[in-house]
Parts: sequence; C-alpha cells; structure tokens
Amino acid sequence: MENLVFHQIGVIKTPYTSSAPYQPVENDDQEFYLDVDDRYVQGLKDLDSFNYIYVIYYIDRLKDIPQMLVAPPWAYGRDVGVFASRSPGRPNPIGLSVVRIRKIFGNRVYTSGLDVFDGTPLLDIKPYIKDLDSKIDANHGWIEASDDAEHLALHIQGIPHDY
Ligand SMILES: C[S@@+](CC[C@H](N)C(=O)[O-])C[C@H]1O[C@@H](n2cnc3c(N)ncnc32)[C@H](O)[C@@H]1O
Repeated sequence: MENLVFHQIGVIKTPYTSSAPYQPVENDDQEFYLDVDDRYVQGLKDLDSFNYIYVIYYIDRLKDIPQMLVAPPWAYGRDVGVFASRSPGRPNPIGLSVVRIRKIFGNRVYTSGLDVFDGTPLLDIKPYIKDLDSKIDANHGWIEASDDAEHLALHIQGIPHDY
C-alpha cells in the first residue's frame, strides 16, 4: 500500500485542551471555529449558503497504537471492529464531525460545538447536503442491540447527562 501525503488546510479552535465530548454537542455555546489558512480562503465562497458542514481533521494527539477491536468507553466493555466504531484510534486517525455553521468571517468559520482538542489540524470541509446526506433508513447498527441503547445514545451524541 502507498503512503499518502495530506496537507493541513487550517486549525480547529475549541475550548477543549485535554478532554472533549465524544461527539459534537450542538447546543454548546462556547466558541468554536475553523481557522482556515489564507491560501484556501477563496475556497470558502458560498459555504455560508449551507446550514451544516462536515469537518474532517487529523486526530493528532493519540498515544496508543490502533487496534482492530475497540471497546468504546461507553459500551460497557463490548468489543467491536474499529471500522464499526467512531473511535479516534484507527489506522488512519481521521476524524469527522457534522456541525452547524454559525457565521463565516474572513478566514474563520464559526460553528456549533466540536468534539476535538484545541489546535487539531484541519484537513477538509464539505457541505452537508439535504437528501444527499440524510438517509431515511439509517439505523444505529450494533448499538440497537444493547440493553441500554437509550443511555448509550446519549454518550454517542456527546449529550451531557448525570446517570
Ligand atoms: C470519539 S472521537 C469522535 C471524532 C469524530 N466525531 C468522529 O466520529 O470521527 C472524539 C474524541 O477524540 C478525542 N480527541 C479529540 N481531538 C483529539 C486530538 N486532536 N488528538 C487525540 N484525540 C482527540 C477526544 O477524546 C474526543 O472525545
């Protein structure tokens, strides 16, 4: 297999330095933005016509070697294949988050809550397009089989809860 080279297009700015939600929390009212490198600013033209975007990034601060079976911290010790999970520890540590655009100002794309550490390298931005990206028969996969699927769903969505 070839080694491929990607170039960082910017930096993700978040309030999180050492821990972050497991998935984006849409109503988190802290400041989140994509600081896009000047070379790519023209590429933001018309992005503000969309409500939501995919943010694609390099999960750069992993410490452990990726495993093919992972036990998501909220899945009560259950092992699943890494490709059946959203675990950050994967052969190519690429993260994907869908967030709402709050505003775009110059090279900054302000968004709803993101689930990454401050300074995470930005690889790409793509529009989330109604109908193209919403599948009406999407399901919850192996998570549906859990005894406590509703509770797990809160963890998956990064929704704070106290039980
Ligand atoms: C479970 S991953 C999900 C990422 C993305 N939403 C996805 O589905 O691909 C989110 C977790 O990755 C970890 N994380 C975030 N940014 C990171 C970084 N730059 N380096 C290492 N780990 C990071 C945090 O522990 C956070 O809770």
